[in-house]
Amino acid sequence: MTGESGGIQQAADVLRAGGLVAFPTETVYGLGADAENPVAVSRTFQVKGRPPNHPLIVHIESAAHLDGWAEDVPETARVLAEHFWPGPLTLVLRRSSRVPLEATGGLETVAVRVPDHPVAQALLAAFGGGLTAPSANRFGSVSPTTAEHVRTELGDAVDLVLDGGPCQVGVESTIVDVSAEAPAILRPGGVTREDLEAVLGYPLGVPATSDVRVPGQHPSHYAPRARVILVEPENVIAEAEQAQQAGRQVGVLLPPTFADAEVKAHAVVNVPASPAAYARALYRLLRGFDESGCDLVVASLPPEDGMGLAIANRLRRAAGPRG
Ligand code: TXA
Ligand code: MG
Repeated sequence: MTGESGGIQQAADVLRAGGLVAFPTETVYGLGADAENPVAVSRTFQVKGRPPNHPLIVHIESAAHLDGWAEDVPETARVLAEHFWPGPLTLVLRRSSRVPLEATGGLETVAVRVPDHPVAQALLAAFGGGLTAPSANRFGSVSPTTAEHVRTELGDAVDLVLDGGPCQVGVESTIVDVSAEAPAILRPGGVTREDLEAVLGYPLGVPATSDVRVPGQHPSHYAPRARVILVEPENVIAEAEQAQQAGRQVGVLLPPTFADAEVKAHAVVNVPASPAAYARALYRLLRGFDESGCDLVVASLPPEDGMGLAIANRLRRAAGPRG
């Protein structure tokens, strides 16, 4: 299935009939359902194995549609939508009665975004309504950045997969809560904190993150099957070789300063030097370690500015304690 119009019309029909359609966005692939069909929305949770109280993002065609889905939209939200939509920004707002509680996990707020991908845009235009779409992966695992990832992970549980090629951003959208007094970043992602603050003119709160090797309050999420451990960049090679020596099958995300170093490990990958390229590649690299049979991945955190903030957030979550 490709993104041409025949596929799009068929996908819109599947959605109208209450089916599930996986589609590409600029961030990751989403598992789409008619946001106004509680039965279809509930099926998304079953397919993902996701607890029903985890709210979904409603994808809409443009900012002009926002008022149908949210109420009391503050000026801050309008400004951010104007600057960053279509794009990898999700806004949390007060829910309108059009949004079923199944989609919001029972919350009175709703997360909304306008994706910036021609296939997603064409699908939303053909469908004519809003689409709930979590990342099209099993709960807790690594988000898919190609149609092949979706097919491998969800198989027949999805009625149709639209193939729009590899995702350009590679990590999920930035979520900003604008439903309360002070806007706050709930999840760093494809729009950087610096870009948001430049538009708003004031600093934004970001969720607290734990230190290297102290994953503590971050239960594992965005995680490959292989265990992930985080160490300082200068310790990556020694840590990896020691674990390999001890019988583990070790995958290594080699920091840019150590690119092309000889490492005695199972699978060694140079981390792309540009943060945008690293974000684009991150989930594909983590999946690759699983495919090549690694049981441990040794990595370090990038500097936490620009896209580095989202990359570090996902690596910490991948390294969190397993449930
Ligand atoms: O880039 C993305 O955002 C992708 C693509 C497909 O659009 N979607 C995505 O969806 O990452 P998902 O379901 O994997 O993550 C949605 C996140 C969850 O962490 C959820 O808790 C949060 O959005 N969320 C949704 N509604 C919320 C709400 N009302 N209040 C706070 N957080 C909310
Ligand atoms: Mg997800």
